[in-house]
Amino acid sequence: MITCEGLVKIYKTDEIEVVALQGLNIQIDAGEFMAIIGNSGSGKSTLLNILGGLDRPSAGQVKVGDWDLLKITDKQLVDYKRHTVGFIWQNNARNLVSYLTALENVEMPMMLSGNYDPAYAKQLLEWVGLSNRMNNKLQELSGGEQQRVAIAISLANRPRLLLADEPTGSVDTKTADMILSIFQRLNKELGVTIVIVTHDLSMAGKVGRVVAIRDGMTSSEFIARNPSITSIDRMAMGLTSEDHEEYVVLDRAGRLQVPKAYLTALQIDGKATMEFDGEKIMIKAPKVIPAHEGVEPNSQTVGGKLK
Ligand SMILES: Nc1ncnc2c1ncn2[C@@H]1O[C@H](COP(=O)(O)OP(=O)(O)OP(=O)(O)O)[C@@H](O)[C@H]1O
Ligand SMILES: [Mg+2]
Repeated sequence: MITCEGLVKIYKTDEIEVVALQGLNIQIDAGEFMAIIGNSGSGKSTLLNILGGLDRPSAGQVKVGDWDLLKITDKQLVDYKRHTVGFIWQNNARNLVSYLTALENVEMPMMLSGNYDPAYAKQLLEWVGLSNRMNNKLQELSGGEQQRVAIAISLANRPRLLLADEPTGSVDTKTADMILSIFQRLNKELGVTIVIVTHDLSMAGKVGRVVAIRDGMTSSEFIARNPSITSIDRMAMGLTSEDHEEYVVLDRAGRLQVPKAYLTALQIDGKATMEFDGEKIMIKAPKVIPAHEGVEPNSQTVGGKLK
């Protein structure tokens, strides 16, 4: 469903350039329910905005279904946003119109795309557990309720792909669980492909696959339910070995990102040695040759002998 290869996004503001994505690779299959995790500023929202057609990539490849988002025209982009993809923003206010009712909020994107279907709008609100709040204005609903309206809105045009940026960022645990089960149902029953960005580790632990982004590149992947390997990253992310198995991501050229914590622990800076023993590849800090064993830089040769 989604292929990104060497995806680059550069934000230019007056004199500063920020490279938010620096050659990111990711592949997401149709019907997957997966999560993206990573530190603040690592490029998660940037990636989601590009996939959602809200922002243009600077270079690289990004394909969603039949659409090539690097080459897509502005007109096609409108069509893409209306029919292929549903989006839930990190900032809730962007999803909702506060002076309209919950039902009107869900109906609005249907009207804009010419697929007005009030019965389906009601069904979506029932689906997210708001059948008795449909006719309340958005400002009369709680934060968690508003977030569920945002989910209903994102589904109004029956998208095949749902992108959600921190959907549980500002709700309590109970609402977060409810949102998670809505997503799970959508994924299982309607086959919607779902990509969420989250800091919520319990949520990340419940999806099929978790991809970690570091400094604008995919660094590692955690695939559900396969015991093994422990690592600093896994502990840092709170994923237990029973939940996910970790894989490091390699691009086509064989490049991989070694976690900073590993490099710091081994005091590797700039250069390392790599050994292959037929089974494993080992990356080690370069050997430091004690000065007396090597040729001293200032030694001079006299008569063919070292002095
Ligand atoms: N419109 C913009 N103009 C300039 N720089 C931007 C813009 N949007 C994002 N950035 C920069 O790009 C980098 C990636 O930002 P992004 O919003 O993708 O991070 P994030 O992983 O979503 O972080 P968070 O977890 O805090 O939401 C950051 O350094 C950010 O400052
Ligand atoms: Mg973000």
